[in-house]
Amino acid sequence: MKILITGANGQLGLTLQDVFAGSDLILTDRDELDITDAKTVNNFIDTKKPEVVINAAAYTAVDQAEIEKELARKINVDGAKNLAAAAKKVDAIFFHVSTDFVFDGKKSKPYVETDETNPLSYYGQTKLESEKTVAEVGGKYFILRTAWLYSPFGKNFVKTIAKLGSEKEELKVVSDQIGCPTYAYDLAIAMKMLLDKTEYGLYHFAGDGKCSWFDFAQEIVKLSGGKAKVLPQTSFEYAASRGETLTAERPKYSPLNCKKIQKLDVKTVPWQESLAKCIEILKENQGL
Ligand SMILES: NC(=O)c1ccc[n+]([C@@H]2O[C@H](COP(=O)([O-])OP(=O)(O)OC[C@H]3O[C@@H](n4cnc5c(N)ncnc54)[C@H](OP(=O)(O)O)[C@@H]3O)[C@@H](O)[C@H]2O)c1
Repeated sequence: MKILITGANGQLGLTLQDVFAGSDLILTDRDELDITDAKTVNNFIDTKKPEVVINAAAYTAVDQAEIEKELARKINVDGAKNLAAAAKKVDAIFFHVSTDFVFDGKKSKPYVETDETNPLSYYGQTKLESEKTVAEVGGKYFILRTAWLYSPFGKNFVKTIAKLGSEKEELKVVSDQIGCPTYAYDLAIAMKMLLDKTEYGLYHFAGDGKCSWFDFAQEIVKLSGGKAKVLPQTSFEYAASRGETLTAERPKYSPLNCKKIQKLDVKTVPWQESLAKCIEILKENQGL
């Protein structure tokens, strides 16, 4: 199966390369295929004719997006539209990834796909717009909203905390934001499972269970054998400690209800179980 992966050097992109290693992969990142360039995207996909297009490219700097609005919008919205349209033209299955940050966090039960959206950040706004634009284009698309993504690749919370946990005596971590840590590997497997399904549309996919960043950090330090004591702090205290005036607002509560995708026999995994697997890989490869 011929699969095009955009943003192939990002953390999801690198994970996808692993999971889809047996396929005929076309791997591109910004230098090979800038997804904001509609004409190039159209020509590239029209020539290569992939059967599947996975968009792992995005503008993901949540705080910086408040400043670089135009660029964030161009990559997240226009980029997604260009890919969706080109994929539709060659009848390819299109995977797009969105985020729990499309919600405002005012709910007290995990969010379902039909819940009202109300992004608090500009990044969340662009991701919501990307969902709408992909749906408008139509075709054989899956939009997977995920959350708190981590992997052995790139820069992410797990790698940062594991490192700091081994270096510092004490770590203060935000305890008033609740969500679902999601292993990028599980998300990539979910995409693989969806390849033979035809129930296209919008789905939630995240790690099973929920926790705060503080709980998550405690588990990371424990599993990686760090020495740091993890202490809770509020989002407000965290922002103040960084001395930032312009920090994007994040939802206080954004767990995702994944029942819709589970009904398609796509498995979700308890977040602690997947975290343990990721930490094992980090220990083997990076000498944690
Ligand atoms: N990380 C999370 O916690 C999280 C949570 C929920 C949802 N998501 C979503 O999951 C997806 C994957 O995220 P990730 O963590 O893997 O992101 P990532 O590590 O930041 O990777 C994004 C990749 O996209 C590339 N890219 C940026 N602009 C591009 C362009 N114009 N054309 C082609 N490639 C471009 C980046 O290249 P450069 O390095 O050159 O910029 C990078 O390789 C995104 O859609 C994100 O919104 C992430």
